[in-house]
This record gives sequence, structure tokens and C-alpha cells, in this order.
Amino acid sequence: MQRFVPKTPFVLLIAFVLVSLCLGVATSALAQCQLVGPKGNQTLTLDGKPFLILGGELGNSSVSSTEDINRHLEKLHRMGLNTVLAPVYWELMEPTEGQFDFSLTDSLLASAQRNNLRVVLLWFGAWKNSMSCYAPAWFKTDTQRFPRAQTAKGKSMEIASAFSPNVFETDRKALEALVLHLALRDTLHTVAMLQIENEIGMLEDARDHSPLANKAYDKGVPRKLTAFLASKSPDQLHPLLAQRWAQNGSKTRGTWVQLFGSNGKADLLTDEIFQAWYHADYVGRLAHMVRKHTTMPLYVNAALNSRGRKPGEYPSAGPLAHLIDVWRAAAPDIDFISPDIYDKGFDAWAEQYATLGNPLFIPEMRLSDNNGAQALYAFGELHALGVSPFSIENGAVGGKLTKTYATLAPLMPFLTQMRDSTRGVLFNQEIQTDGWRDEQAALDIKLSHYFTLPWDPRATDGSTWPDAGAILVKMGPREFLLIGTGVVLNFTSVAESQASALDFVVSRKLGEDGFVLANDNNEVSDGQANPEAQSSQSSQSSQPNKVEPADWTKVRRIGILSVDEVEVDTNGTFRRIRRLNGDEDHQGRHVRIGVDDVKVLHVKLYDY
Ligand code: DGJ
Repeated sequence: MQRFVPKTPFVLLIAFVLVSLCLGVATSALAQCQLVGPKGNQTLTLDGKPFLILGGELGNSSVSSTEDINRHLEKLHRMGLNTVLAPVYWELMEPTEGQFDFSLTDSLLASAQRNNLRVVLLWFGAWKNSMSCYAPAWFKTDTQRFPRAQTAKGKSMEIASAFSPNVFETDRKALEALVLHLALRDTLHTVAMLQIENEIGMLEDARDHSPLANKAYDKGVPRKLTAFLASKSPDQLHPLLAQRWAQNGSKTRGTWVQLFGSNGKADLLTDEIFQAWYHADYVGRLAHMVRKHTTMPLYVNAALNSRGRKPGEYPSAGPLAHLIDVWRAAAPDIDFISPDIYDKGFDAWAEQYATLGNPLFIPEMRLSDNNGAQALYAFGELHALGVSPFSIENGAVGGKLTKTYATLAPLMPFLTQMRDSTRGVLFNQEIQTDGWRDEQAALDIKLSHYFTLPWDPRATDGSTWPDAGAILVKMGPREFLLIGTGVVLNFTSVAESQASALDFVVSRKLGEDGFVLANDNNEVSDGQANPEAQSSQSSQSSQPNKVEPADWTKVRRIGILSVDEVEVDTNGTFRRIRRLNGDEDHQGRHVRIGVDDVKVLHVKLYDY
């Protein structure tokens, strides 16, 4: 059971109980967000029920007035979100040191409750996008007490130094005040998760070179880090870090250069690992404090090391995939690290954060018409806990994301229960198709972008193809649920695939009507296997050109028995909306969903 339990000061606990009793508020149950399940296969629950975060993050300045909060959250409700990610600004929460004003957070929670939204709070504390711009004025102006990070040339950055005990203590006090306030006020558990800081990182250099930082550097590598690394097998560590440590002899004591250097010298990676340790240690101590008061998931987000940039060119030493082990070792109370995905290659970036047992949560992704397709991929293929486009208040009510979220919302229990039987795909103009063999069902499954069919003029008129995405749930060897937008699904029996590879007839290209194309130039002359089959045979056979044609009388093929567009309720019960056949399934040849639709199709197959 998740419950805020203020441990300090004791008087707050008494006040909490008294207030709860006076208001007759249930202090225990209701909406509680928790990570459940074994490490590496965790899911979220809210009040004990499976929960996927169908979220969106508000722009940085969008919750600095109650009017804006109310306006935006009312829209997000109409957009179909179940969760809003929103900042808590340190500068407005503690305008005078030690005096806290929680009115904005209170407004946020009240508005969220009215609009049936959960909240992920983002602590814009000491760091926001590397910088310390959200620190209060009294902090910013007292650089003696709150020293800045410095570059190697001694240039002061507007980045509080992670090595300063004063910086940590003031940040910790403020965050603890917030958490204790929530303990008193958030009796309905509207807050689902907490993000600590925002996109931590060092800029211009890979590490802080301030006097405090240099002192820490000279102390060498903490045993806590090497003990963590030594406790893992190499395949449990990120390959880049594992390799660097192994190259230096996997030592458990020594300087940063001795353990993580390159040819006996510090390079950018050495400096980044050092800095990451101290970022993670700082956040780990904050998380440890928060963890004393709540069991809700805690996470950190990363600005990505994209476009070939080097540490310092991108925010160095954030919670990046290649530094995950450093973060895990130093901040064990952090449940996961999360990518903010603004670059091309959404799927590849997301994959990097869905490995090594890290549950994938995407707190920020570029707001676009492709978010729905991306969400389907993230949930289907990477079993994401949630997704959240950034500056969500600028999104459209009723757009593709609304349709996707509306489709996914009732499916949350079903998808969570079936997560080991789901796959996901994401297509665009470059990556148009994907497929895999299901050995157990003896099926070859192929999914493609809807625009690989020639029927929509936008496929060929120079339009940019919208992303297409889908979740395919295997319900049985001959039964599937397709939740998608802009995809075509084909099934072939493995026996047919093998026979086709041997048979010349299939080397005649078929048109979309399923008939052989009028132009016969692509035909391979009778008696020969197609070239692919020949090359695979030639390695095994001394007579590569003599391939026996397939014996089709023995080949069992797969047909579509039925395709129903369905609604699925939260109990997993299907209700047929309509039967799709004839033109709608290409006379039984395929299953498809147009790019402007988001649909759930229940597909049954048969053998013949
Ligand atoms: C990532 C940050 O985390 C957000 O707060 C915001 O600054 C976006 N970048 C870009 O606008």
C-alpha cells in the first residue's frame, strides 16, 4: 500500500492524522501508483489496477498561474489524457528562504482532480536543463554560499555545483517540504510519480572543474561504484561502461584515470563517468529522503547524447543509457531513467532505455501527429509504463493522440495481462515493413505501412508519410488483436513461406488485386527456383541449379476466418462494432487500418 508517511517532523504526522480525521478523508486507499513485478518486467498499478500513463507534459511556464492551470488541465481532460506531467518551480515555492508557498501545487492537484487526471510532479529544483534557472533569487545571488560549476578554464556556469553541501542541503530542504506538504494535502494520491530535477547535465565541459569538484576527483573512485560493478556479470552492465572498466583491468580501487581512463589519460568519457557519479549521488540522496515518505515511483530524465555530440556539447553526465550503471549504483532509490526524445529515430532511442531491466517511461517526446503511432509502438514492443508528448497544451482535442489514448484507456488491464504476448511496430517512409516468424504458431507475420498499398493518393503524391504504428497481441495460435493506425497485416504459414521460396510461380510479382502483373518481365523461367531460394540452397547442394519445386499438395496455408472491429472494455470483454470483409480485408488477403484511423481489430485465422 502506498501512503505518504511523514517521518519528520513528528508534529506533522499528528497534524496529518488530525486533519484527515476532521475531514473524514480516507487516508489509505484510493489512487496509488506503484511499480509492481520483478525487476526488468515491472508494470504500473493505480489503486491496485493496471495503469498505463497516457500522458502529456505541460510547457515550462504553463503552471505558474492558477488561471493557466485550470485552462490547460480542462483541455487535457478533453484530449483524453489520464496523466499530466507538470513542474513545481522552486523559485515560486520558496521565494524567501525557509518560507514555502504551495498554492500553485495545490491548484494543480485540485484542478487535476476535477479533470480526472493524475499528476507526475517535476521538481524543477537545483537543475533544469543543466542550468540552475529555477533556483530562487536568494540562492542565485549568493554564489559564496551556493558555488557554481566551472569549466576547465575557470569559467563560472549558471549551474550550481553538485559538489557543494550547501547546494544539496537547500535543495533537499525544499524538496522535503514539498513532499511533506503532499503528505498532508494529497490524501487522494493524485500525484502518481515524482521526477527529481530536470535533465541534469554539465555543459561546455564534460565535468565540473570547480575547486570542490577537483577535490572530489582527487579522492579517486568510490568503492560503492566498483563494488556495484564487480557484483554484476558483464552482460548485466551497459557495454560501453563495462568495456571501459575491463580495458583498465576491472580494478576495484584507484583513481578515475586508473579505472576509467583511456591509455592512461582522462578523456571525455572518464570525466563524464566521474561527473555522473556525483550527479547520481546527489540525486540518490534526494531520492532516499523522498523514499522515506512515499513508495511512489521516482525517476530522472535525460537530455539525449544525440547527433554525434560529445559530453559537454550535450548535457554531460545526465541519466543517459551508457551511464545507467553509475546511476544505479549511486541512486538505488531511483526506479528508472527516462529519455526525452526529440530526435529522429524515436524507436531506436526508446529501445536504449528499455534494456538492462530499466522500465521505459518517456516523459517528453516531440509533440506531433505521430505521437499516437509512437505510443502504440512503445507500449506494444517496449512495454512502456507511459508516454508523454511535451507542450501538450498545444495539441489538438480530437486528434490522432486523442483517438489513440481513447482506444488504449479501456485496454490497460488487457494489455498489461498480455504484455508477454505483444509486439509493436512503428513505420515511416524509410522503414515501411517488419515481420517475424512465430515458430510456436508456425506463422510468418508481416506488418507494413498502409501506404505500401497504392490505394491512398498520399502514398505517391509526394506527401510525407505519417508514422504508422500498431500493437499486435497474440491471443492464441490463430487469434490476434491488432490495435493500430496506418498498418497492413499479413499472415503466411511457415510451410507456405518455405514452399514459396522454392517455387517459381511466386517469383511472378502479384499486383494489389492479387493477380499476376500484366508485365511478365519479372518472371523467372519455368523450372527454376527464385534466386533467394537458389542461394540458400547452393551452400548445401552440389547441384545448385536443380531445385525440386514445392509440393503444394502437402502445404497447409493460412486464411482469414474473420476480422471484427471491436471495442474492449476494462474487463477484457470484446464487443463487435462491425464485421470487416470483402473490400475491407481485400477479400480475405490482409487486415488493414487506414492512416487516419485508430482501430482495434479482432482477427481469427484458419488453416486450409
Ligand atoms: C527538454 C526539457 O526537459 C523541457 O523542460 C523543455 O525545455 C524541452 N526540452 C524543450 O522545450
